[in-house]
Amino acid sequence: MAFPTLIIIILILIVVGIFLITSLTGAPYVPTLRKDFEKALKKLLPLGKDDLLIDLGAGDGVILDVAAKNGAKALGIELNPILAGIIRFRFRKKPKVSVKCKNFYHFSFPKETTVIYAFAVGIHIEPIYHKIQKEANRLNKPLYFISNAFNLKDLKPEKKSGTWFLYKITPEKH
Ligand SMILES: C[S@@+](CC[C@H](N)C(=O)[O-])C[C@H]1O[C@@H](n2cnc3c(N)ncnc32)[C@H](O)[C@@H]1O
Repeated sequence: MAFPTLIIIILILIVVGIFLITSLTGAPYVPTLRKDFEKALKKLLPLGKDDLLIDLGAGDGVILDVAAKNGAKALGIELNPILAGIIRFRFRKKPKVSVKCKNFYHFSFPKETTVIYAFAVGIHIEPIYHKIQKEANRLNKPLYFISNAFNLKDLKPEKKSGTWFLYKITPEKH
């Protein structure tokens, strides 16, 4: 096998490996459908300049873009360095959008956070809920949580539109 072919095969294997490994920690990369989300967001929760939306597992940044176009600040947490790099490049001229290449379970939300978005697989939805509850307790403020495709077992949604569920997660009193 020629040397350049070998390099290309190794690069492809590395990229496939990154996507496989990151998909095991929360969800595989499947982007939200922008048009449907824009429609749902209008019904669920109007965003504005006082909002900071965090997308847990931000993919290529479609949710960050919608949030920023609604006037909000948007922060993506994305474990996959290739996707995090795409977001960084895509939004390099949009100061409202930023990204951190991290595992979202190990990320402390900034105090201005108001809304959390997640499109994760079913088994991750309860751990994500507990993470948001912990952060709401720490920040001592309610956080809105928009979950795509999966609902929570023990919390009633404030609203539902299409495949999206809106929850209000309030700090627990001890
Ligand atoms: C279903 S996609 C959703 C992408 C985007 N939020 C959207 O709705 O278009 C899930 C994303 O989460 C990322 N991811 C999975 N586990 C993660 C973790 N523990 N921390 C950060 N990102 C994670 C994956 O790499 C993938 O890009």
